[in-house]
Amino acid sequence: MSNHFYYGGDYNPEQWPRSVWDEDVGLMREAGVNLVTVGVFAWAQLEPREGSFSFGWLHDLLDLLATNGIGVDLATPTAAPPAWLSVRYPDVLPVDAAGARYSHGSRQTICICSPAYLERARTVVTQLANEVGHHEAIKMWHVHNEYACHVPYCYCDYHAQAFRRWTEQRYGSLDNLNDAWGTAFWSQTYTDLSQVVPPRLTAAFVNPSLDLDYKRFSSDAYFQEFLMERAVLKQARPDLPLTTNFMGFFKPLDYFGWAAQMDIVSTDNYPDMSDPEWPVRSAMHCDLVRGLNKAAPWMVMEQTPSRVTWHNPNVPKRPGHMRAMSYQAVARGASGIMFFQWRASRTGAEKFHSAMVPHAGKGSPVWTDVVALGKELASLEDLAGTAIDAKAAFLFSWPNWWALEAPSQPAGGLTVDDQLMWLYRPLFAGGVNVDFCQPDESLEGYRAVVVPSLYLISEEQGAKLLSYVEAGGTAIISFWSGIVDERDSVYLGPYGGPLRPLLGCDVVEVSPLPVGQVLEVQWEDGERGTGELWAHVATQRDGQVLARYSRGPLSGRPAVLQTGYGKGRAYYIGCRLDHDSLARLYGLVPGLHARATMAPPEGHVERVLRVGRDKRYEFLINYSGSERVVEVAEGGTDVLTGRITGSRVALEPAGVAILRYPHPSGGRPLRRPQGLKP
Ligand code: GAL
Repeated sequence: MSNHFYYGGDYNPEQWPRSVWDEDVGLMREAGVNLVTVGVFAWAQLEPREGSFSFGWLHDLLDLLATNGIGVDLATPTAAPPAWLSVRYPDVLPVDAAGARYSHGSRQTICICSPAYLERARTVVTQLANEVGHHEAIKMWHVHNEYACHVPYCYCDYHAQAFRRWTEQRYGSLDNLNDAWGTAFWSQTYTDLSQVVPPRLTAAFVNPSLDLDYKRFSSDAYFQEFLMERAVLKQARPDLPLTTNFMGFFKPLDYFGWAAQMDIVSTDNYPDMSDPEWPVRSAMHCDLVRGLNKAAPWMVMEQTPSRVTWHNPNVPKRPGHMRAMSYQAVARGASGIMFFQWRASRTGAEKFHSAMVPHAGKGSPVWTDVVALGKELASLEDLAGTAIDAKAAFLFSWPNWWALEAPSQPAGGLTVDDQLMWLYRPLFAGGVNVDFCQPDESLEGYRAVVVPSLYLISEEQGAKLLSYVEAGGTAIISFWSGIVDERDSVYLGPYGGPLRPLLGCDVVEVSPLPVGQVLEVQWEDGERGTGELWAHVATQRDGQVLARYSRGPLSGRPAVLQTGYGKGRAYYIGCRLDHDSLARLYGLVPGLHARATMAPPEGHVERVLRVGRDKRYEFLINYSGSERVVEVAEGGTDVLTGRITGSRVALEPAGVAILRYPHPSGGRPLRRPQGLKP
């Protein structure tokens, strides 16, 4: 049976003598590998001297892989410039905020606005595409590697010039720019465009509006380079699917725009295995990536078989967790499970990173697990035509992330990551699946939308959310939402800006709390809960108060409200409610009800439902260290074992079950089929 999923990893044969290649392909076949990423850091081997190219080794390698039925995800090598480049053109190296220039010596040490870099990158990509682009082994284009990973911001003069051009395009005139950035504050008014500089090292807080635009500009600058490479590759082979590997919640790049230009969205998922909540983070990562381009498939381009080299300590995956994490991605729609890397390096900064073929070779348990997963995935039936059953959406926006975490906020402890985890955790625990959406996209079809501290929101985005609720949707909005517009200028009046009609109250002040201080919250039925981190100071308006602060200076003020708006309703949460209170609130919301069967003791079991026209699959994954028994609908067939299941399924530690059911109701329209190779 041919594998419906991509399976493989980064393959760096340039690090090994030719004799090892033959062993590699034999092992790849044994492990069921059908795709490898080649050439991702091979610029020095492809162009050892400027303008002098060497493709012979690559032809040999592609022939070998093709003969063995192994496909290639051919990468452009532009993330690892060769030593000669910066010797010949020193200004390809980036400059930090204090004006210090980086040196060559690792990878990705690039100024993305440097004309020499752009020119040499275009040349090597063009040569590569023309020279080997038509080789039968090549199944996918892989552009660059983890854009902006090590140097998200460069502050050099090329960047300054490009930033000025960017601001000119965005604002049209200096007056508009001064207005947008509020430069009357602290005497920052510009009288000539040449005075505009990147947010370099300066004494006090940098202007947050300038900083926000620099983040937009820097994300765009990398994107322009991606588009340049994309155009070259597409010209050579328009038929090949194209991707670049994302990093999930990676702050510097606004991936929504990027994903629209990709045929398959791919991501590198490396949760810290010493974090007990890694399954939750990893699930959220998958959901985000799936949501970036809802018309395209997605895949895991990299994960580690066991340890990485850059967490501290580099905790290995526990037995079964590599498999469990792989099935989590498959459950959430992934079309491929790939690793960094195929063979563990002997030298270099990542020699102790685990790999599919470890230093110990076939004697390592990692190899055994890799082979077992490859076999299992190859035998897994085609899940294509099914989609995640997500009845709710999570709103997420990069500009909001950038602005919300600027240093001049009321509370430094308010981070987007914490807010997401706080609001996502009870849904994960309750087996409720969500899609991530940006505030500009249509929310039609979702029964509920969670709005995690959307501090920055434009009038248009606000209007979109209002019309969604007006038409019958439900919004759950957490505190510090609707505070500034896209320029980071405060909406005056009680806080909430365009979202005010959904808040049910007038937020007149905010009150960040000292670390460790807990507020007491009382629900209308007398039940008590707590809040922490932050409290809005609000006066009830047209909303119904569901819970109030019951002690201290805020006593009697509303903490949680519900407001009807058009045919829908909104819930507004004014502090960081404890887990149970939040779960209680979600319990009121259609689309966010936890699944009854997920109450303890089944905790630590992830449940994901995929539905199609004539079947549905329920994935169950046990992350706990002991057996878990889960109640399920009767009559499912576990596609991993072929066994028909009753109303209870026992999962061993790290156990996985995928239950297939004939769809009872004939199915519902698919938002987007997943699990398809492009
Ligand atoms: C990724 C990167 C790989 C490798 C890996 C190690 O971020 O793309 O090249 O460095 O991390 O975990």
